[in-house]
Amino acid sequence: MANPTLIDHLNEILKHEWTGVAQYSQAGFIIEGVWREVYADKFLSDAKESFGHARLVGDKIVALGGVPVATRNEIQQSRDLQEVFSFSLAFESKAVEMYSKAIELAGDDKPLVVFLEDILKEEQEGVDEYTKLLRNSGAAAANPALKSA
Ligand SMILES: [Fe+2]
Repeated sequence: MANPTLIDHLNEILKHEWTGVAQYSQAGFIIEGVWREVYADKFLSDAKESFGHARLVGDKIVALGGVPVATRNEIQQSRDLQEVFSFSLAFESKAVEMYSKAIELAGDDKPLVVFLEDILKEEQEGVDEYTKLLRNSGAAAANPALKSA
């Protein structure tokens, strides 16, 4: 089996991705009003992205000789769209952090590094997207740190 610290960390990532599947699906289910037309599909597609990552990471854990977890963390949910964006930004930022750490743990294993970098790129796109969605919003106006960002 590969480095157990690496496998444990990949399992933490897998747990995070399962959390994303549930959290984004829930956001897509509960959104109501006019913004439902715009964001229900967006949240569902983010849930699918998390599932895609979970699938890649789960398969990789098995390839490395580990056993994938089938659990998730608590989800964050709200009927306030700005709050959902904030939860989503926090979720994507945590993913960036986790994949960056996995890349460090992968060390000299180039193929694994490239595998993780491909996912990291998509997580950073998520951060960029939710950062932009939160800009010029009520949440940004209430948060000076976001306002100046
Ligand atoms: Fe992901």
